[in-house]
Amino acid sequence: MRVAVVGAGYVGLVTGTCLAESGNDVACVDKDDAKIEALQAGSIPIYEPGLEELVHRNAKEGRLRFSTDLAQAAGRAKVVFLAVGTPEGEDGDAELRHVLEAAEEIARSVKHYTVVATKSTVPVGTADRIQEIMERRAKAEVDVVSNPEFLKEGAALEDFQRPDRVVVGARTDRARRIMRELYAPFVRTERPILLMDPRSAEMVKYASNAMLATRISFMNDIAVLCERVGADAEHVRKGMGADTRIGYPFLFPGIGYGGSCFPKDVKALLATGRRHGIDLDLLRAVEKTNERQKRQLLVRAVKHFGALDGRTFGVWGLAFKPKTDDLREAPSLEVIEGLLGKGGRVQVYDPVAMERARRLLGERVTFAPGPYEAVEGADALFVVTEWSEFRTPDLERVKTLMRSPVVFDGRNVFDPAEMEELGFVHHAIGRAP
Ligand code: UGA
Repeated sequence: MRVAVVGAGYVGLVTGTCLAESGNDVACVDKDDAKIEALQAGSIPIYEPGLEELVHRNAKEGRLRFSTDLAQAAGRAKVVFLAVGTPEGEDGDAELRHVLEAAEEIARSVKHYTVVATKSTVPVGTADRIQEIMERRAKAEVDVVSNPEFLKEGAALEDFQRPDRVVVGARTDRARRIMRELYAPFVRTERPILLMDPRSAEMVKYASNAMLATRISFMNDIAVLCERVGADAEHVRKGMGADTRIGYPFLFPGIGYGGSCFPKDVKALLATGRRHGIDLDLLRAVEKTNERQKRQLLVRAVKHFGALDGRTFGVWGLAFKPKTDDLREAPSLEVIEGLLGKGGRVQVYDPVAMERARRLLGERVTFAPGPYEAVEGADALFVVTEWSEFRTPDLERVKTLMRSPVVFDGRNVFDPAEMEELGFVHHAIGRAP
């Protein structure tokens, strides 16, 4: 099938590449000339495990092309995916400028019946708005469907190719048939394609992310309480997760959720609620807890040391989670700004996010070439991202390198008993210090 993907960002690239891999003829288009030139030359703008190899193979075999010509790509395609950014607007809701601009251009370009599928996370009712644009401007029949993405950074290819579910909100059987055909290689009885109306599909996306964010904030509240009452959040997590109604995934307390999705989507859903006169109290609390949680380690550091000025701190992990170089809303930034703000010196290390961090933090921190260099002479180590290489370091060596053996373990990567034995002061999430 001929497919166009508008927006060669994270979602667009993964979608286009996976659809090319399953045998379709895919054009990924973007307004950014430099990005398209780089992609044509084989350079991938984001770090996502496995993506580079898949892009190269499909481009070489002629199933995947990159271009800036939206009109041509949309004119040839049977399905056009909209995967452009929806930044946070002034009122917290998702900003639709890029989506609507692209929709106008698609409307001018279609030459035959086309399905336009929104992949970008957009407020409920957006597919209907785009449908109106098509009806006003397009010269051919267009069905607009909502097809939200559920990709996790760091596991996006797996999530696309082996999805828990594919959600398609479509108004006509014709559009449903085409979307079914496109996704046929990826769905099974146990990984179904769920067909519904566009508004419900748009809501599935927001409600899913909001539910996941709620689980995390709930566990972070429980963790803070555990610290006070002398319980261990790790035992509590296991005890809760064993209940099949609760389950284990997404129950890890930590230093708050970050990334380009949860913070933005929670805000956007709150804005939708406000617009419709509904106060989503629970979600407001989810956000508030997350803000508190991002400051948790800093609060504990101040409690431990008193003043932080003149002290040196090592930070392991910058990305908002492992296997990505994404720093958007990363809790590490809050920790680093907090330490700097209180007069501390900061030495950071991340396996892949150093380049991006350099652009953001400049000369204000020291970029260490490895994890051990980051703890040299440090008064404390902050573990902020649970990269696997941080789970089993040579802790004897770490202790020798540090000025004082204090660890603020924001992801509970270390075993408290082992840390005690080694002589560390180990502050973990959800455990009394
Ligand atoms: C999230 C969703 O998981 C995807 O399903 C969704 O498609 C995506 O947003 C999106 O809307 O595009 P992502 O932001 O890549 O994916 O990352 P997650 O793995 O969900 O992690 C989000 C944050 O929650 C991270 O900061 C992570 O450290 C934190 N987290 C996650 C916890 O603190 N505890 C947990 O138990 C799980």
